[in-house]
Amino acid sequence: MTAKIIDGKLIADEIRKEITAETAELKEKHGIVPGLVTILVGENPASVSYVTAKGKTSKELGFHSIQETIPVGSTEEQLLALVAKYNEDPRIHGILVQLPLPKHINEGKVLYAIRPDKDVDAFHPVNLGKLMIGNADFLPCTPAGIQELLVRSGAALEGAEVVVVGRSNIVGKPIANMLLQKAKGANATVTVCHTKTRDTAMHTRRADILIVAAGAPKAVTADMVKEGAYVIDVGVNRIGMTDKGKAKLCGDVDFEPVKEKAAAITPVPGGVGPMTITMLMRNTLKAAKLRISR
Ligand code: GUN
Repeated sequence: MTAKIIDGKLIADEIRKEITAETAELKEKHGIVPGLVTILVGENPASVSYVTAKGKTSKELGFHSIQETIPVGSTEEQLLALVAKYNEDPRIHGILVQLPLPKHINEGKVLYAIRPDKDVDAFHPVNLGKLMIGNADFLPCTPAGIQELLVRSGAALEGAEVVVVGRSNIVGKPIANMLLQKAKGANATVTVCHTKTRDTAMHTRRADILIVAAGAPKAVTADMVKEGAYVIDVGVNRIGMTDKGKAKLCGDVDFEPVKEKAAAITPVPGGVGPMTITMLMRNTLKAAKLRISR
């Protein structure tokens, strides 16, 4: 079997059209323009490119968009003051503090200072708690993107054996929780593997749907994949430079051989990546819409 390639860019474009239409309607009916601020501390090149992409996309969708960059030597108090300012700003519905933060700043303290109803990353414990009980306002962006890719590419989630490789707070734990909810596009039986799992391959070979967020290049090889599985590769590993001087990327899945076994697979780049930003935009729109009813 040669897998269908799940085109994250195409699906993201489809969702962006939906967001653009809903944004125009929100403005027309309620006079509300979704507002997003991104806050970056320092000039880490990967973070600069992520934040630039988020700013560009939000403008394209018709959002009010602000990019704040403060020096790498800024204090925790300065960053908290900036968060407090946007917590109070009625034109801003979403606040995103780009991670990682410099070591002298307590990441948890900063993320927890963001008002939960403006926490479009859904990293605040209030939002993670709501997710756990199936009552989320916002879903974390990468897991939300994975779920959309699965649903929109026709994966049968109900009753499926889902195996997640990786237990991070940003991907592994939330996607496992989301897919086991008693809900549409979920209702799966979920197993989570991690660095202390005794025999990861034994689990992954049973997976109808395999989600890999291991943080290691080509960690999942063809012998670990069931014939006909859906494979979602969340990994982004920089493995050199292209001829054009861009970063060359590979995922956590050994793409070419796994492609010959799977029913469907996401490429890297062009799979999960384009979905993450799109889900951030959808959360910002949702945050703006929540203002109507509150
Ligand atoms: N750094 C890498 N990914 C993310 C993300 O999804 N949100 C934030 N805030 N920072 C990140």
